[in-house]
Amino acid sequence: MYQLGLIGNPVSHSKSPDLHHNFLNRAGLKGSYELVHVEEDELQEKVEELVNQGFSGFNVTVPYKEKVLNLLDSLEESAELMGSVNTVKIENGKLVGYNTDGKGYVRSLIESYPDFLNQSKHKRVLLIGAGGAAKGIAHQLNQYLFHDLMVTNRSYDKAEALSHNFAQFRPMLLEDISVMKGQFDLIINTTTVGMYPSESEQIISLEGVGPSCIVSDIVYKPKWTALLKDAKYRGCQLLFGESMLYYQALNSFEIWTNRQLNFNLMN
Ligand code: ATR
Repeated sequence: MYQLGLIGNPVSHSKSPDLHHNFLNRAGLKGSYELVHVEEDELQEKVEELVNQGFSGFNVTVPYKEKVLNLLDSLEESAELMGSVNTVKIENGKLVGYNTDGKGYVRSLIESYPDFLNQSKHKRVLLIGAGGAAKGIAHQLNQYLFHDLMVTNRSYDKAEALSHNFAQFRPMLLEDISVMKGQFDLIINTTTVGMYPSESEQIISLEGVGPSCIVSDIVYKPKWTALLKDAKYRGCQLLFGESMLYYQALNSFEIWTNRQLNFNLMN
């Protein structure tokens, strides 16, 4: 019996219960996944309650992805690197923090475009943004050898800092990227630009980007961001934010249940 849940504020509109109930069913496991609304001053108390109630683990969402760090006993590598946790596993009363965002992204890429990473040596990738989500994705991509990996950000110092951590990445200022856009085989928006309620905003125009390019957005609300609409108009290949959301959830579920589950999003 797996007792699972999500802590955050707000949590009421989360799709996580649907996803995890679906995973439990498909894996033939018994369990539950609850939404736990947590106010700022009760984080520690609520986490202790989950441990005492015998929870196997929980997800963490805004605004606690960083704050939860000092309540944990240890961190897995990606959580440590990103300085943020979206998944906690409770084992023998000990709390271990993970971040499944980067792995979830790469898994969604593999599911939709199975050959892309096999041919990474010939591929040029543009990562837009240098925040927490970008770091998680950069960490996973850096494990493959690419023809070119570029990170671009509104503020150059953060792009530069990311490229210090991940050797293959070359930094560039966002406003200087326009002439190069046509060169990339994969463009990933990791910023919040285009997210509800500012869905008319677009991080970069895709002028000059051809149909062989995969354009991907980690924003999933709305599903059709301005960037992805522009990509469709230009005949580009698409990767939606909800696909990353699905696979980061599946990764969390696998951590809690110690199982490898190859559930495809399409089914
Ligand atoms: P997350 O953890 O979700 O990645 P974050 O760490 O706050 O969030 O990072 C947000 C990213 O979106 C950053 O790369 C940020 O750029 P800056 O480092 O220059 O702040 C980027 N971002 C947010 N709003 C932006 C905007 N209006 N234009 C360009 N980039 C923006």
